[in-house]
Amino acid sequence: MKGAARTFFILALCYAVAGMVLGIVMAASHDHGEMPAHAHIMVAGWLMSSVFAFFYHLFPEIGAKPLARAHFWVQAVSGIVLVVSLFFLLRGNDGLEPVTALASVGFLLGTLMFVWNALPVLRTA
Ligand code: HEM
Ligand code: HEM
Repeated sequence: MKGAARTFFILALCYAVAGMVLGIVMAASHDHGEMPAHAHIMVAGWLMSSVFAFFYHLFPEIGAKPLARAHFWVQAVSGIVLVVSLFFLLRGNDGLEPVTALASVGFLLGTLMFVWNALPVLRTA
């Protein structure tokens, strides 16, 4: 794997390990209060980053573009801030809500960048 495919796959693997550790801690402690953080780490983190990784792997000429690298950084920074701030928000740090909200908008922006990067594939299909 190269370019954005590689960085997204590394990110996906980090989300997978972190999310499962959190899932096991939740299950073992019988405290499911972090379920939304676990769910988003697993699906918005592990699964979405994997989809991005395999897309850019399948279309390496798109994955090598600066726009794919920009997509990675927007999606990675906003996603990590989103799940980390959500984790602490769920532990009662209510002041973090604006941070989580802003990160959510960043995460949407990242996904819109992916839509833009993926459009040429649809046109040439
Ligand atoms: C080590 C493996 C895992 C453990 C121990 C674990 C544990 C848990 C626990 C304890 C809950 C809360 C259930 C509840 O309160 O109803 C949960 C929910 C959830 N988990 Fe996991 N999980 C694991 C792996 C995964 C994986 C691999 C995914 C997805 C790729 C995933 C996605 C979810 C989702 C989406 C929810 C929320 C379900 C709902 O909305 O009802 N989990 N998990
Ligand atoms: C823009 C960022 C997002 C925001 C602001 C957001 C917000 C929310 C909210 C408010 C809930 C309900 C939580 C609860 O009732 O406790 C939720 C649940 C859920 N979301 Fe998201 N979401 C976002 C992105 C995503 C993405 C990208 C995915 C999947 C790829 C996803 C998957 C889920 C799942 C599986 C649940 C159910 C798990 C649970 O109830 O905790 N979300 N989300």
